[in-house]
Amino acid sequence: MPSLPRRLEPVNQQSAINNQQSSNTRRLRRLDLLKKKALEGGGAERVEKQHQAGKLTARERLHLLVDEGSFDEIDLFVQHDCGHFGLAKKKVRGDGVVTGYGRIDGRPVAVFAQDFTVFGGSLGKMHAAKICKIMDGAMKLGIPIVGLNDSGGARIQEGVESLGGYADIFLRNTLASGVVPQISCILGPCAGGAVYSPAITDFIFMVEQTSYMFVTGPNVIKAVTHEEVTSERLGGAAVHNETSGVAHFRARNEAECLQTVRRLVGFLPQNNAEEPPVVATADDPARRDTRLNVHVPDNPQRPYDMKEILLTVLDDRQFLEVHADFARNLIVGFGRFNGRPVGLVAQQPAVLAGCLDIHSSVKGARFVRFCDAFNIPLVTFVDVPGFLPGVAQEHGGIIVNGAKLLYAYCEATVPKLTVITRKAYGGAYDVMNSKHIRADVNFAWPTAEIAVMGPEGAVNIIFKKELEQAKDPAKTRARLIEEYRKKFASPYIAAEKGYLDAVIEPADTRFRLIRALELLRTKRDKNPPKKHGNMPL
Ligand code: HXC
Repeated sequence: MPSLPRRLEPVNQQSAINNQQSSNTRRLRRLDLLKKKALEGGGAERVEKQHQAGKLTARERLHLLVDEGSFDEIDLFVQHDCGHFGLAKKKVRGDGVVTGYGRIDGRPVAVFAQDFTVFGGSLGKMHAAKICKIMDGAMKLGIPIVGLNDSGGARIQEGVESLGGYADIFLRNTLASGVVPQISCILGPCAGGAVYSPAITDFIFMVEQTSYMFVTGPNVIKAVTHEEVTSERLGGAAVHNETSGVAHFRARNEAECLQTVRRLVGFLPQNNAEEPPVVATADDPARRDTRLNVHVPDNPQRPYDMKEILLTVLDDRQFLEVHADFARNLIVGFGRFNGRPVGLVAQQPAVLAGCLDIHSSVKGARFVRFCDAFNIPLVTFVDVPGFLPGVAQEHGGIIVNGAKLLYAYCEATVPKLTVITRKAYGGAYDVMNSKHIRADVNFAWPTAEIAVMGPEGAVNIIFKKELEQAKDPAKTRARLIEEYRKKFASPYIAAEKGYLDAVIEPADTRFRLIRALELLRTKRDKNPPKKHGNMPL
């Protein structure tokens, strides 16, 4: 039988307490020291180098990204276990990436921020394991993942374990796709296979002059193709926002970038099972704007600014444009109607007359799919003369690329609303959220022209013989064009057939959309059961 503990004499009791206190103090001091050392990252010199390069440190970035005091770091003490190339003697706690949970406007997010001051932010086995752990956590909790990338890529000393680490992340990016929003900020180098993690995520942000992305860098390119190019010109923020479309947002500096991430998150639900967040607005849902009644020019060839229409109808003129510098003939982005987020897709008649081409189709398709995945209603503004004609477009695959936008709209089951402001011609009429592909509410302005093609083209084809035989072909042509325009270049034939729900006064657009969106809050629709469709990629 165990003996009862002997009662301590008062003096002994006090000294035991003292001993206990001093050993606890020692433990706390050790914890503080370990933390302090870990928080130093790669040390003052490397931090200074980072600042001189115009970049912030991982923790400074996190400070700007999440709500004040909301960040709970995890895995601060993780270290690599690699013994190759002298790495055993070089260990830095945290292993070059800061991970944890914070809040944006009070809503939780999972975050990782690579620390370039530690092994150049390079990714080894444990660094990858930290990222995977936070991604797994985000999936379990159903919260967005924001990744701040600033890395020299695979940690060369760790060899294949680094490659395995990347693949572990790619798999998680893919499984999380459509479940929780994933946002990547490129805040330094991002090269080689490392680019594929951001590429799978939903949105990529880049910062001018300090960030770049490429699969093979300038040196390899020079050796293989003899082309000479700088990192900035090969894969800087301008290139990926304007030319390749790889990036969705471009910021002048890191503070602006992280602020825009916060703004974007404000439009998104935490996961695919939630509705997007509603915010209070003082903007009257019934607000009319008669300027819209004269916004579309009389001359159908004259451009106008579609963005102005969006700003006029949305709450508080607030619109967060996505892919603002890429394929500018199509506008996509987020706004709110009576406090509720929507995704907007709109032709821009001021660029390429608003034609659909390869880039705009892909841009639109990806945005439509994102909104559909995350329960964000789609509002489409249409002024499209058709698909852009040209050998380059045909050879570049406008068929398969245009089909992506069509497929995305057909597949989407979120509330889908359309406003035709002017042209809706040909196949592009069908594609741009027409009634036939399950749009819920289709409005047109009185200026709408809905037909197989524009009057000039149509007359050339259907009256070819008459024009050949006419005594005065120019006069006959003008008459026929006018006749065609009167008959078809209006919304009324489509309205007669029920392809439109209403022809509305432009001034009422905001009010009509808000009413329709409210009605559609109980919308239920689904696609046939399948493993997944075979989108024309
Ligand atoms: C290990 C690395 C590293 C890497 C940088 N460092 N990249 N350590 N593995 N990949 C270390 C450097 O040794 C240095 O350590 C510190 O980080 C800072 O690097 P610097 O070269 O001094 O900085 P800078 O001049 O700013 O140049 C940054 C850089 C350059 C352009 C990123 O470091 C670089 O080219 N690194 C290698 C890039 C690369 O080839 N990575 C592999 C890509 S292939 P000290 O101790 O001196 O501070 C890849 C495949 C992924 O990633 C495949 C996934 C499927």
